[in-house]
Amino acid sequence: MNRRNLLRATAWGAAGLLTGVRPAFAADAEVEVSPQAAGATISPHIYGHFIEHLGAVIYDGIWVGRQSKIANSGGIRQRFIDDMKRIGAPNFRWPGGCFADGYHWRDGIAKSRPRTYNYWQGQMPPGLDHTETNEFGIHEFMRLCRLTSAEPYLAANVGSGSPQEFHEWVQYCNAPGTTTTVAAERVANGDREPFGVKWWGVGNESWGCGGDMTPQEYSTLYRRFVTQFPAYPPKPYLVAVGPRGHSRDMDLGWTTGFFESMQGGHRSPVDGLSMHYYTDFRSSREKVATFNASGWYDVIREGLRTANVIETHWEIMGKFDPAHRTKLIVDEWGVWYPPGEETTPAHLLSQPLTLRDALHTAVTFDVFNQHADKIAMANVAQTVNCIHSLVLTQGDRYTRTPVYSVFEMYKPHMGAKSLPLSIKSEELEVPGRTGTAKMPALSGSASLNGRALTVTLTNPSIDSAVSARVRVVGGASEARAVVLTHADITARNTFDRPEEVKLAPLAVKIAGGNVEVGMPKHSIVAIEIRLS
Ligand code: AHR
Repeated sequence: MNRRNLLRATAWGAAGLLTGVRPAFAADAEVEVSPQAAGATISPHIYGHFIEHLGAVIYDGIWVGRQSKIANSGGIRQRFIDDMKRIGAPNFRWPGGCFADGYHWRDGIAKSRPRTYNYWQGQMPPGLDHTETNEFGIHEFMRLCRLTSAEPYLAANVGSGSPQEFHEWVQYCNAPGTTTTVAAERVANGDREPFGVKWWGVGNESWGCGGDMTPQEYSTLYRRFVTQFPAYPPKPYLVAVGPRGHSRDMDLGWTTGFFESMQGGHRSPVDGLSMHYYTDFRSSREKVATFNASGWYDVIREGLRTANVIETHWEIMGKFDPAHRTKLIVDEWGVWYPPGEETTPAHLLSQPLTLRDALHTAVTFDVFNQHADKIAMANVAQTVNCIHSLVLTQGDRYTRTPVYSVFEMYKPHMGAKSLPLSIKSEELEVPGRTGTAKMPALSGSASLNGRALTVTLTNPSIDSAVSARVRVVGGASEARAVVLTHADITARNTFDRPEEVKLAPLAVKIAGGNVEVGMPKHSIVAIEIRLS
Protein backbone atom coordinates (compact mmCIF):
# COMPACT_ATOMS: atom_id res chain seq x y z
CA MET A 1 0.00 0.00 0.00
CA ASN A 2 2.69 2.46 0.97
CA ARG A 3 5.58 1.73 -1.32
CA ARG A 4 8.84 3.44 -0.52
CA ASN A 5 11.24 3.32 -3.43
CA LEU A 6 14.39 3.34 -1.41
CA LEU A 7 17.07 5.59 -2.67
CA ARG A 8 19.77 3.33 -1.31
CA ALA A 9 21.18 2.22 -4.65
CA THR A 10 21.52 5.77 -6.01
CA ALA A 11 22.40 7.26 -2.64
CA TRP A 12 25.60 5.25 -2.42
CA GLY A 13 26.64 6.75 -5.70
CA ALA A 14 25.69 10.26 -4.73
CA ALA A 15 27.37 10.04 -1.34
CA GLY A 16 30.43 8.47 -2.85
CA LEU A 17 30.73 11.40 -5.20
CA LEU A 18 30.39 13.86 -2.35
CA THR A 19 32.95 12.30 -0.03
CA GLY A 20 35.11 10.21 -2.34
CA VAL A 21 34.60 7.10 -0.18
CA ARG A 22 31.81 4.59 0.12
CA PRO A 23 30.02 5.54 3.35
CA ALA A 24 29.32 2.92 6.01
CA PHE A 25 25.89 4.37 6.90
CA ALA A 26 23.06 3.17 4.65
CA ALA A 27 21.06 6.35 4.13
CA ASP A 28 17.55 6.31 2.68
CA ALA A 29 17.78 10.06 2.31
CA GLU A 30 20.65 12.40 1.59
CA VAL A 31 20.12 15.85 3.02
CA GLU A 32 22.47 18.73 2.32
CA VAL A 33 22.63 22.14 3.92
CA SER A 34 25.07 24.94 3.31
CA PRO A 35 25.41 27.49 6.15
CA GLN A 36 27.11 29.85 3.67
CA ALA A 37 23.87 30.19 1.70
CA ALA A 38 21.92 32.00 4.47
CA GLY A 39 18.83 33.72 3.08
CA ALA A 40 16.05 35.79 4.64
CA THR A 41 15.51 36.03 8.38
CA ILE A 42 12.66 33.83 9.57
CA SER A 43 10.46 36.37 11.29
CA PRO A 44 9.78 35.16 14.85
CA HIS A 45 6.21 36.31 14.19
CA ILE A 46 5.71 33.33 11.87
CA TYR A 47 5.27 31.34 15.09
CA GLY A 48 2.40 33.58 16.16
CA HIS A 49 -1.03 33.08 17.68
CA PHE A 50 -4.68 33.88 17.17
CA ILE A 51 -7.25 34.09 19.98
CA GLU A 52 -10.87 35.03 19.38
CA HIS A 53 -14.01 35.49 21.43
CA LEU A 54 -15.33 32.17 20.17
CA GLY A 55 -16.54 29.20 22.23
CA ALA A 56 -14.01 28.64 25.04
CA VAL A 57 -10.94 30.32 23.56
CA ILE A 58 -11.01 33.41 25.78
CA TYR A 59 -13.45 32.42 28.53
CA ASP A 60 -12.09 29.23 30.13
CA GLY A 61 -9.07 28.90 27.84
CA ILE A 62 -7.35 32.13 28.83
CA TRP A 63 -9.60 34.12 31.13
CA VAL A 64 -10.62 32.29 34.29
CA GLY A 65 -11.41 35.44 36.28
CA ARG A 66 -9.69 37.04 39.25
CA GLN A 67 -11.78 35.10 41.78
CA SER A 68 -11.08 31.69 40.22
CA LYS A 69 -9.59 28.81 42.21
CA ILE A 70 -7.58 28.02 39.10
CA ALA A 71 -4.11 29.58 39.41
CA ASN A 72 -4.21 32.89 37.59
CA SER A 73 -2.49 36.20 37.23
CA GLY A 74 -5.07 38.97 37.40
CA GLY A 75 -7.68 36.59 35.94
CA ILE A 76 -5.48 35.05 33.23
CA ARG A 77 -4.81 31.32 33.52
CA GLN A 78 -1.28 30.88 34.87
CA ARG A 79 -0.50 27.64 33.04
CA PHE A 80 -1.42 29.28 29.78
CA ILE A 81 0.92 32.19 30.54
CA ASP A 82 3.74 29.79 31.45
CA ASP A 83 3.26 27.64 28.37
CA MET A 84 3.21 30.62 26.04
CA LYS A 85 6.39 31.99 27.62
CA ARG A 86 8.05 28.61 27.24
CA ILE A 87 7.61 28.59 23.46
CA GLY A 88 8.38 32.31 23.17
CA ALA A 89 4.93 33.23 21.78
CA PRO A 90 5.81 36.28 19.68
CA ASN A 91 2.32 37.76 19.30
CA PHE A 92 -1.41 37.33 19.77
CA ARG A 93 -3.96 38.33 17.15
CA TRP A 94 -7.19 39.46 18.85
CA PRO A 95 -10.25 39.85 19.16
CA GLY A 96 -11.15 37.92 15.97
CA GLY A 97 -11.81 36.49 13.45
CA CYS A 98 -15.42 37.00 12.57
CA PHE A 99 -16.02 38.39 16.07
CA ALA A 100 -13.83 41.41 15.27
CA ASP A 101 -16.23 42.90 12.72
CA GLY A 102 -19.02 43.03 15.30
CA TYR A 103 -16.82 44.16 18.20
CA HIS A 104 -16.89 47.67 19.61
CA TRP A 105 -13.79 48.19 21.71
CA ARG A 106 -15.50 50.59 24.12
CA ASP A 107 -17.64 47.70 25.39
CA GLY A 108 -14.49 46.20 26.90
CA ILE A 109 -13.02 49.10 28.89
CA ALA A 110 -15.48 50.40 31.44
CA LYS A 111 -15.72 49.28 35.10
CA SER A 112 -19.24 48.06 34.41
CA ARG A 113 -19.36 46.37 31.03
CA PRO A 114 -22.38 45.76 28.80
CA ARG A 115 -23.51 42.33 27.68
CA THR A 116 -23.46 42.25 23.92
CA TYR A 117 -24.28 39.91 21.05
CA ASN A 118 -21.41 37.61 20.06
CA TYR A 119 -21.15 36.63 16.39
CA TRP A 120 -20.60 32.97 17.39
CA GLN A 121 -23.46 32.60 19.87
CA GLY A 122 -25.87 31.49 17.15
CA GLN A 123 -23.68 28.47 16.49
CA MET A 124 -23.50 27.41 20.13
CA PRO A 125 -25.64 24.47 21.25
CA PRO A 126 -29.08 25.45 22.63
CA GLY A 127 -28.84 26.65 26.21
CA LEU A 128 -25.14 27.43 25.84
CA ASP A 129 -25.56 30.38 23.49
CA HIS A 130 -24.14 32.91 25.94
CA THR A 131 -23.86 36.56 25.16
CA GLU A 132 -20.52 38.34 25.38
CA THR A 133 -19.71 39.59 28.89
CA ASN A 134 -16.86 41.82 27.71
CA GLU A 135 -14.93 40.88 30.85
CA PHE A 136 -11.87 40.44 28.66
CA GLY A 137 -11.19 43.73 26.88
CA ILE A 138 -8.15 45.62 25.65
CA HIS A 139 -6.62 46.10 29.13
CA GLU A 140 -6.88 42.39 29.90
CA PHE A 141 -5.54 41.53 26.46
CA MET A 142 -2.58 43.85 26.91
CA ARG A 143 -1.88 42.29 30.30
CA LEU A 144 -1.73 38.87 28.61
CA CYS A 145 0.75 40.31 26.09
CA ARG A 146 2.89 41.85 28.82
CA LEU A 147 2.89 38.68 30.94
CA THR A 148 4.01 36.58 27.98
CA SER A 149 6.24 39.21 26.31
CA ALA A 150 4.14 38.84 23.16
CA GLU A 151 3.26 41.68 20.78
CA PRO A 152 -0.37 42.68 20.26
CA TYR A 153 -1.91 42.36 16.80
CA LEU A 154 -5.35 43.98 16.79
CA ALA A 155 -8.07 43.34 14.20
CA ALA A 156 -10.21 46.44 13.67
CA ASN A 157 -13.94 46.41 13.04
CA VAL A 158 -14.48 47.38 9.41
CA GLY A 159 -17.70 45.41 8.86
CA SER A 160 -19.90 47.26 11.35
CA GLY A 161 -17.57 49.95 12.67
CA SER A 162 -16.37 53.27 11.32
CA PRO A 163 -13.01 54.88 10.57
CA GLN A 164 -13.66 57.18 13.55
CA GLU A 165 -14.17 54.27 15.94
CA PHE A 166 -10.96 52.72 14.61
CA HIS A 167 -8.93 55.90 14.94
CA GLU A 168 -10.15 56.41 18.49
CA TRP A 169 -9.05 52.88 19.32
CA VAL A 170 -5.60 53.71 17.93
CA GLN A 171 -5.55 56.83 20.12
CA TYR A 172 -6.73 54.88 23.14
CA CYS A 173 -3.88 52.42 22.64
CA ASN A 174 -1.05 54.65 21.51
CA ALA A 175 -1.54 58.31 22.50
CA PRO A 176 0.75 59.36 25.36
CA GLY A 177 -0.49 60.14 28.87
CA THR A 178 -3.53 62.33 28.94
CA THR A 179 -2.78 64.20 25.70
CA THR A 180 -6.24 63.46 24.31
CA THR A 181 -9.47 62.80 26.13
CA VAL A 182 -9.50 59.27 24.76
CA ALA A 183 -5.97 58.61 26.04
CA ALA A 184 -6.98 60.05 29.41
CA GLU A 185 -9.71 57.43 29.56
CA ARG A 186 -7.06 54.72 29.20
CA VAL A 187 -5.10 56.28 32.06
CA ALA A 188 -8.27 56.44 34.19
CA ASN A 189 -8.85 52.77 33.41
CA GLY A 190 -5.49 51.83 34.86
CA ASP A 191 -2.87 52.02 32.11
CA ARG A 192 -0.81 55.21 32.19
CA GLU A 193 1.71 54.02 29.60
CA PRO A 194 0.51 53.74 26.01
CA PHE A 195 0.15 50.17 24.75
CA GLY A 196 2.34 50.87 21.73
CA VAL A 197 0.42 48.68 19.29
CA LYS A 198 2.21 48.29 15.97
CA TRP A 199 0.29 45.52 14.17
CA TRP A 200 -3.16 46.57 12.93
CA GLY A 201 -5.44 44.36 10.86
CA VAL A 202 -7.98 46.42 8.92
CA GLY A 203 -10.93 44.06 9.13
CA ASN A 204 -11.13 40.28 8.84
CA GLU A 205 -12.43 38.13 5.98
CA SER A 206 -14.21 41.11 4.42
CA TRP A 207 -15.25 38.78 1.59
CA GLY A 208 -17.31 36.80 4.16
CA CYS A 209 -18.27 37.41 7.79
CA GLY A 210 -16.44 40.76 7.73
CA GLY A 211 -18.97 42.43 5.42
CA ASP A 212 -19.53 40.19 2.37
CA MET A 213 -17.74 42.70 0.12
CA THR A 214 -16.13 42.63 -3.27
CA PRO A 215 -12.40 43.41 -3.31
CA GLN A 216 -13.25 46.77 -4.88
CA GLU A 217 -15.68 47.67 -2.09
CA TYR A 218 -13.17 46.61 0.52
CA SER A 219 -10.28 48.55 -0.98
CA THR A 220 -12.36 51.75 -0.79
CA LEU A 221 -13.02 51.12 2.89
CA TYR A 222 -9.41 50.13 3.52
CA ARG A 223 -8.25 53.50 2.18
CA ARG A 224 -10.76 55.37 4.36
CA PHE A 225 -9.71 53.44 7.43
CA VAL A 226 -5.97 53.99 7.01
CA THR A 227 -5.81 57.51 5.57
CA GLN A 228 -6.31 59.40 8.85
CA PHE A 229 -4.56 56.81 11.00
CA PRO A 230 -3.32 58.75 14.09
CA ALA A 231 0.46 59.08 13.87
CA TYR A 232 1.52 58.02 17.36
CA PRO A 233 4.54 55.75 17.76
CA PRO A 234 5.26 53.02 16.91
CA LYS A 235 5.05 53.24 13.13
CA PRO A 236 2.06 51.07 12.29
CA TYR A 237 2.21 47.88 10.28
CA LEU A 238 -1.09 47.89 8.38
CA VAL A 239 -2.55 44.60 7.25
CA ALA A 240 -5.23 44.48 4.55
CA VAL A 241 -7.71 41.63 4.26
CA GLY A 242 -6.47 39.10 1.72
CA PRO A 243 -7.71 35.91 0.13
CA ARG A 244 -9.45 32.79 1.32
CA GLY A 245 -6.46 30.70 0.28
CA HIS A 246 -8.20 27.38 0.92
CA SER A 247 -10.86 28.03 -1.72
CA ARG A 248 -10.64 25.62 -4.63
CA ASP A 249 -9.40 28.44 -6.91
CA MET A 250 -7.22 29.81 -4.06
CA ASP A 251 -9.30 33.00 -4.30
CA LEU A 252 -6.85 34.54 -6.74
CA GLY A 253 -9.57 36.99 -7.81
CA TRP A 254 -9.50 38.67 -4.40
CA THR A 255 -5.77 39.37 -4.46
CA THR A 256 -5.93 40.61 -8.06
CA GLY A 257 -9.09 42.67 -7.49
CA PHE A 258 -7.77 44.28 -4.32
CA PHE A 259 -4.44 45.35 -5.78
CA GLU A 260 -6.05 46.52 -9.03
CA SER A 261 -8.32 48.78 -6.99
CA MET A 262 -5.36 50.16 -5.09
CA GLN A 263 -3.70 51.40 -8.31
CA GLY A 264 -4.41 54.68 -10.10
CA GLY A 265 -2.67 57.16 -7.83
CA HIS A 266 -3.88 55.79 -4.48
CA ARG A 267 -1.14 56.09 -1.89
CA SER A 268 -2.47 54.19 1.12
CA PRO A 269 0.23 51.88 2.46
CA VAL A 270 -0.37 48.14 2.58
CA ASP A 271 2.37 46.56 4.69
CA GLY A 272 0.82 43.13 4.89
CA LEU A 273 -1.81 41.13 3.04
CA SER A 274 -3.63 38.72 5.29
CA MET A 275 -4.14 35.25 3.85
CA HIS A 276 -6.22 32.56 5.49
CA TYR A 277 -5.29 29.00 4.66
CA TYR A 278 -7.17 26.26 6.44
CA THR A 279 -6.56 22.61 5.65
CA ASP A 280 -10.28 22.48 5.29
CA PHE A 281 -11.91 19.09 5.80
CA ARG A 282 -15.23 20.53 7.03
CA SER A 283 -17.23 19.19 4.13
CA SER A 284 -15.61 15.73 4.28
CA ARG A 285 -16.33 12.75 6.54
CA GLU A 286 -12.83 12.88 8.02
CA LYS A 287 -12.75 12.45 11.79
CA VAL A 288 -10.32 14.27 14.08
CA ALA A 289 -9.29 11.36 16.25
CA THR A 290 -10.23 8.21 14.33
CA PHE A 291 -8.77 7.78 10.87
CA ASN A 292 -7.02 5.42 8.51
CA ALA A 293 -3.96 5.69 6.26
CA SER A 294 -5.76 7.77 3.59
CA GLY A 295 -6.93 10.28 6.16
CA TRP A 296 -3.44 10.50 7.62
CA TYR A 297 -1.78 11.23 4.29
CA ASP A 298 -4.56 13.50 2.96
CA VAL A 299 -4.18 15.89 5.89
CA ILE A 300 -0.39 16.06 5.70
CA ARG A 301 -0.45 16.48 1.91
CA GLU A 302 -2.86 19.40 2.27
CA GLY A 303 -0.37 21.01 4.65
CA LEU A 304 2.34 20.74 1.99
CA ARG A 305 0.01 22.50 -0.49
CA THR A 306 0.47 25.70 1.53
CA ALA A 307 3.65 26.28 -0.51
CA ASN A 308 1.76 26.46 -3.78
CA VAL A 309 -0.85 28.85 -2.37
CA ILE A 310 1.85 31.18 -1.01
CA GLU A 311 3.85 31.17 -4.22
CA THR A 312 0.82 31.78 -6.46
CA HIS A 313 -0.45 34.78 -4.47
CA TRP A 314 3.09 36.12 -4.18
CA GLU A 315 3.41 36.06 -7.95
CA ILE A 316 0.18 38.06 -8.37
CA MET A 317 1.31 40.57 -5.74
CA GLY A 318 4.57 41.01 -7.63
CA LYS A 319 2.72 42.16 -10.74
CA PHE A 320 1.47 45.22 -8.86
CA ASP A 321 4.40 45.59 -6.48
CA PRO A 322 7.57 44.27 -8.13
CA ALA A 323 9.71 45.27 -5.13
CA HIS A 324 7.39 43.23 -2.89
CA ARG A 325 6.91 45.95 -0.33
CA THR A 326 3.76 44.16 0.82
CA LYS A 327 4.40 40.87 2.62
CA LEU A 328 2.07 37.98 3.37
CA ILE A 329 0.51 37.58 6.81
CA VAL A 330 -0.97 34.07 7.14
CA ASP A 331 -3.06 35.12 10.10
CA GLU A 332 -5.27 32.03 10.22
CA TRP A 333 -4.04 28.52 9.45
CA GLY A 334 -4.70 25.02 10.75
CA VAL A 335 -6.58 21.78 10.11
CA TRP A 336 -10.35 22.21 10.36
CA TYR A 337 -12.41 19.01 10.70
CA PRO A 338 -16.20 18.58 10.59
CA PRO A 339 -18.01 19.26 13.88
CA GLY A 340 -19.00 16.47 16.25
CA GLU A 341 -15.87 15.72 18.30
CA GLU A 342 -15.71 18.84 20.47
CA THR A 343 -14.02 18.25 23.83
CA THR A 344 -17.32 19.39 25.35
CA PRO A 345 -20.32 20.92 23.50
CA ALA A 346 -19.75 24.46 24.84
CA HIS A 347 -16.21 24.44 23.45
CA LEU A 348 -17.30 25.34 19.95
CA LEU A 349 -14.85 24.22 17.23
CA SER A 350 -12.54 22.51 19.75
CA GLN A 351 -10.82 19.43 18.32
CA PRO A 352 -8.99 16.51 20.02
CA LEU A 353 -5.87 16.81 17.86
CA THR A 354 -3.53 13.89 17.28
CA LEU A 355 -0.03 13.09 16.09
CA ARG A 356 -1.32 13.62 12.53
CA ASP A 357 -1.94 17.31 13.27
CA ALA A 358 1.55 17.61 14.73
CA LEU A 359 3.05 16.37 11.46
CA HIS A 360 0.80 18.79 9.57
CA THR A 361 2.13 21.60 11.78
CA ALA A 362 5.73 20.58 11.09
CA VAL A 363 5.35 20.52 7.31
CA THR A 364 3.51 23.86 7.43
CA PHE A 365 6.31 25.47 9.45
CA ASP A 366 8.86 24.04 7.03
CA VAL A 367 6.97 25.72 4.18
CA PHE A 368 6.85 29.02 6.12
CA ASN A 369 10.59 28.82 6.89
CA GLN A 370 11.36 28.15 3.24
CA HIS A 371 9.32 31.24 2.29
CA ALA A 372 10.74 33.50 4.98
CA ASP A 373 11.32 36.24 2.38
CA LYS A 374 7.56 36.43 1.73
CA ILE A 375 5.92 35.89 5.13
CA ALA A 376 6.10 38.54 7.84
CA MET A 377 3.73 36.82 10.27
CA ALA A 378 1.54 33.74 10.67
CA ASN A 379 -0.98 32.99 13.41
CA VAL A 380 -2.20 29.53 14.27
CA ALA A 381 -6.00 29.29 14.44
CA GLN A 382 -6.49 29.11 17.30
CA THR A 383 -4.12 28.76 20.25
CA VAL A 384 -6.51 27.22 22.76
CA ASN A 385 -9.77 25.24 22.61
CA CYS A 386 -10.45 25.92 18.94
CA ILE A 387 -9.46 24.24 15.65
CA HIS A 388 -5.63 23.77 15.56
CA SER A 389 -4.96 24.27 19.25
CA LEU A 390 -1.76 23.96 21.23
CA VAL A 391 -3.69 23.73 24.48
CA LEU A 392 -7.05 22.30 25.61
CA THR A 393 -8.71 23.28 28.88
CA GLN A 394 -11.89 22.56 30.77
CA GLY A 395 -12.11 24.36 34.08
CA ASP A 396 -9.16 23.14 36.12
CA ARG A 397 -8.27 20.47 33.55
CA TYR A 398 -5.53 21.27 31.11
CA THR A 399 -3.43 19.56 28.50
CA ARG A 400 -1.02 20.51 25.76
CA THR A 401 -1.76 18.90 22.40
CA PRO A 402 0.92 17.32 20.15
CA VAL A 403 0.86 20.59 18.18
CA TYR A 404 2.39 22.36 21.20
CA SER A 405 5.44 20.10 20.99
CA VAL A 406 6.06 21.17 17.40
CA PHE A 407 6.13 24.85 18.41
CA GLU A 408 8.69 23.82 21.02
CA MET A 409 10.80 21.88 18.51
CA TYR A 410 10.78 24.70 15.94
CA LYS A 411 11.57 27.50 18.40
CA PRO A 412 15.27 27.72 17.36
CA HIS A 413 14.13 28.72 13.84
CA MET A 414 12.57 31.93 15.22
CA GLY A 415 14.66 34.89 14.12
CA ALA A 416 17.30 32.66 12.47
CA LYS A 417 18.39 32.90 8.82
CA SER A 418 16.60 30.56 6.47
CA LEU A 419 18.87 28.09 4.67
CA PRO A 420 18.09 26.11 1.54
CA LEU A 421 17.83 22.39 2.29
CA SER A 422 18.33 19.81 -0.42
CA ILE A 423 16.68 16.45 0.24
CA LYS A 424 17.36 13.50 -2.04
CA SER A 425 14.96 10.65 -1.45
CA GLU A 426 12.37 9.03 -3.60
CA GLU A 427 8.69 9.81 -3.32
CA LEU A 428 6.15 7.87 -1.33
CA GLU A 429 3.13 6.42 -3.07
CA VAL A 430 0.32 6.76 -0.58
CA PRO A 431 -3.40 6.05 -0.41
CA GLY A 432 -5.75 9.03 -0.51
CA ARG A 433 -9.48 9.74 -0.68
CA THR A 434 -9.30 10.08 -4.44
CA GLY A 435 -6.85 7.25 -5.15
CA THR A 436 -3.12 6.80 -4.91
CA ALA A 437 -1.05 9.94 -4.59
CA LYS A 438 2.62 10.81 -4.41
CA MET A 439 4.33 12.86 -1.75
CA PRO A 440 7.89 13.50 -0.59
CA ALA A 441 9.28 10.76 1.65
CA LEU A 442 10.98 13.42 3.72
CA SER A 443 10.43 17.15 4.04
CA GLY A 444 12.09 19.76 6.17
CA SER A 445 13.72 23.14 6.63
CA ALA A 446 16.93 24.58 8.03
CA SER A 447 18.11 27.80 9.61
CA LEU A 448 21.24 29.35 11.05
CA ASN A 449 21.60 31.47 14.15
CA GLY A 450 25.25 32.40 14.70
CA ARG A 451 27.08 29.04 14.78
CA ALA A 452 23.92 27.10 15.63
CA LEU A 453 22.28 25.26 12.77
CA THR A 454 18.77 23.82 13.13
CA VAL A 455 17.40 21.18 10.79
CA THR A 456 13.81 19.97 11.17
CA LEU A 457 12.67 16.89 9.25
CA THR A 458 9.36 15.05 8.91
CA ASN A 459 8.96 11.42 7.91
CA PRO A 460 5.24 10.95 7.13
CA SER A 461 5.42 7.22 6.31
CA ILE A 462 3.24 5.02 8.47
CA ASP A 463 5.27 1.99 7.36
CA SER A 464 8.95 2.82 7.22
CA ALA A 465 11.66 4.43 9.26
CA VAL A 466 14.09 6.64 7.34
CA SER A 467 17.81 6.86 7.82
CA ALA A 468 19.07 10.27 6.81
CA ARG A 469 22.53 11.64 6.37
CA VAL A 470 22.66 15.40 6.84
CA ARG A 471 25.71 16.72 5.04
CA VAL A 472 26.66 20.09 6.49
CA VAL A 473 28.89 21.98 4.10
CA GLY A 474 31.92 22.99 6.19
CA GLY A 475 31.26 20.19 8.68
CA ALA A 476 29.37 19.62 11.91
CA SER A 477 31.16 19.22 15.23
CA GLU A 478 28.30 18.40 17.58
CA ALA A 479 24.63 17.53 17.23
CA ARG A 480 21.67 16.62 19.36
CA ALA A 481 18.11 15.83 18.43
CA VAL A 482 14.59 15.41 19.74
CA VAL A 483 11.81 13.37 18.18
CA LEU A 484 8.03 13.47 18.31
CA THR A 485 6.29 10.22 17.46
CA HIS A 486 4.11 7.47 18.91
CA ALA A 487 3.41 3.82 18.07
CA ASP A 488 -0.18 4.78 17.25
CA ILE A 489 -0.76 7.39 14.53
CA THR A 490 -4.03 8.44 16.18
CA ALA A 491 -2.34 9.05 19.55
CA ARG A 492 -3.23 12.26 21.38
CA ASN A 493 -3.03 13.85 24.80
CA THR A 494 -6.10 13.89 27.01
CA PHE A 495 -6.82 15.50 30.37
CA ASP A 496 -6.21 12.08 31.95
CA ARG A 497 -3.12 11.26 29.88
CA PRO A 498 -1.55 14.64 29.11
CA GLU A 499 1.88 13.12 28.37
CA GLU A 500 0.79 10.43 25.93
CA VAL A 501 2.50 12.14 22.98
CA LYS A 502 5.65 13.87 24.07
CA LEU A 503 9.12 14.83 22.97
CA ALA A 504 11.99 12.40 23.50
CA PRO A 505 15.72 12.67 22.88
CA LEU A 506 16.95 10.93 19.73
CA ALA A 507 20.47 9.62 19.21
CA VAL A 508 22.38 11.16 16.31
CA LYS A 509 25.94 10.46 15.18
CA ILE A 510 28.59 12.69 13.69
CA ALA A 511 30.63 10.89 11.06
CA GLY A 512 33.05 12.71 8.79
CA GLY A 513 31.46 16.06 9.62
CA ASN A 514 28.00 14.76 8.62
CA VAL A 515 25.09 14.07 10.93
CA GLU A 516 23.50 10.64 10.72
CA VAL A 517 20.02 10.15 12.08
CA GLY A 518 17.52 7.32 12.10
CA MET A 519 14.00 8.72 11.95
CA PRO A 520 11.22 6.44 13.21
CA LYS A 521 8.18 6.07 11.02
CA HIS A 522 5.60 8.87 11.31
CA SER A 523 7.91 11.19 13.17
CA ILE A 524 9.24 14.73 13.36
CA VAL A 525 12.88 15.29 14.27
CA ALA A 526 14.59 18.55 15.21
CA ILE A 527 18.40 18.50 15.10
CA GLU A 528 20.54 21.23 16.62
CA ILE A 529 23.99 21.25 15.12
CA ARG A 530 27.18 23.13 16.06
CA LEU A 531 29.26 24.04 13.07
CA SER A 532 32.92 22.93 13.00
O1 AHR B 1 -11.02 30.67 13.28
C1 AHR B 1 -12.41 30.59 13.17
C2 AHR B 1 -12.95 31.51 12.09
O2 AHR B 1 -12.44 31.12 10.85
C3 AHR B 1 -12.56 32.95 12.18
O3 AHR B 1 -13.38 33.66 13.05
C4 AHR B 1 -12.75 33.43 10.78
O4 AHR B 1 -11.92 34.51 10.47
C5 AHR B 1 -12.47 32.20 9.95
O5 AHR B 1 -13.41 31.97 8.99
